[in-house]
Amino acid sequence: MSAKRIGIIMHGVTGRMGMNQHLIRSILEIRKQGGVRLKDGTRLMPDPMLVGRNAAKIEALARAHGVRRWTTDLDAALASKEDSVFFDAASTQLRPALLKRAIGAGKHIYCEKPVSTTLAEAMSLYKAAKKAKVKHGVVQDKLWLPGLLKLARLREQGFFGRILAVRGEFGYWVFEGDPQSSQSAAQRPSWNYRKQDGGGIILDMLCHWRYVLDNLFGQVRAVSCLGATHIPQRWDENGKKYKATADDAAYATFRLAGGVIAHFNSSWAVRVRRDDLLTLQVDGTHGSAVAGLRRCLVQSRDDTPKPVWNPDIAQPIDFFAGWKEVPDGDYDNAFKVQWEMFLRHVAGDGPFLWGLLEAAKGVQLAELGLKSWKQKKWIDIPKLKA
Ligand SMILES: NC(=O)c1ccc[n+]([C@@H]2O[C@H](COP(=O)([O-])OP(=O)(O)OC[C@H]3O[C@@H](n4cnc5c(N)ncnc54)[C@H](O)[C@@H]3O)[C@@H](O)[C@H]2O)c1
Repeated sequence: MSAKRIGIIMHGVTGRMGMNQHLIRSILEIRKQGGVRLKDGTRLMPDPMLVGRNAAKIEALARAHGVRRWTTDLDAALASKEDSVFFDAASTQLRPALLKRAIGAGKHIYCEKPVSTTLAEAMSLYKAAKKAKVKHGVVQDKLWLPGLLKLARLREQGFFGRILAVRGEFGYWVFEGDPQSSQSAAQRPSWNYRKQDGGGIILDMLCHWRYVLDNLFGQVRAVSCLGATHIPQRWDENGKKYKATADDAAYATFRLAGGVIAHFNSSWAVRVRRDDLLTLQVDGTHGSAVAGLRRCLVQSRDDTPKPVWNPDIAQPIDFFAGWKEVPDGDYDNAFKVQWEMFLRHVAGDGPFLWGLLEAAKGVQLAELGLKSWKQKKWIDIPKLKA
């Protein structure tokens, strides 16, 4: 079987997402499995070129994972004919300028979300890529989580009947980073809590909720969002106290085409007493489902208990007992699945639906969510012109 190499410049790979999900769990896994199989039987083998500012760090990362190519010179990497794809997972604010440079150099683009902090920048990236005729893709990983794939299957099978509402509960307690505290290290980078550095949970999460809702339950038509900064100060990676200038919680309601109502609570200041860090409950006339990242439990109309309100006695119904587990299938890492589709697309094997215009829709929802909070009102979501 013949093999074909595809060179990928990978930027931002010393970070949390870039290193774990993209380099280790996706590109290196694809290499281990012998590449991506194309329709004609060819094996497409990704060949990463790691790019970073700090030579020692990037060299150590390359060595640790047996990656042969690394550099600190992004311009030279972009100028090289060896690599046809540019990938970015650095912090959000840097992304538009980086992608513009890569598009200018004729590279195909793949990157993390959000693609930018404003809709104007997101649309300008889409237009630049279209004009340059380069291929583009943006991470929409939640679509390939086993829990959400199970929900999609249930919907296709008509399990829910008419879907009425979707409740999303996302979040966990992110420690403040106080060096004096017993739980000193924060689990997320400090820029997430500074607006001036591209932080904020509304920008971070509403772009996820946009593609989840659009793809599974109906196009988002309107948003009402209340944000909050529950924890006013935190400590950064160097133990220095800083003011949290960005929202760390968002309470958002969405009206969808087709009439479904969705409500998502997103918070970095909530303690978990639910099955997973993200749970989605879907209620329909014929049945309901609750999905986490991997598991999904269902309750049909026939299995639905018939409670009556009586606070004077202990609850006689075990509400958790009336749910059945959807069996597991053969699922791969969500980031890797999307990478494989993108690489096939670049090689000419099929379309890829999750490009810069779809990504702009996510940024649009975040921007209008922030506006709704500021103006204390519902905001309609206009259709973006391709
Ligand atoms: N898809 C998801 O579920 C998901 C989850 C978390 C984060 N993200 C996104 O991934 C991106 C990275 O987030 P993270 O949590 O990995 O952040 P991080 O802070 O861990 O990593 C940021 C990376 O950017 C690099 N960087 C920072 N400033 C730079 C500069 N001036 N020049 C060059 N490189 C620079 C850092 O060295 C690091 O490699 C963000 O856009 C974030 O929104 C996506």
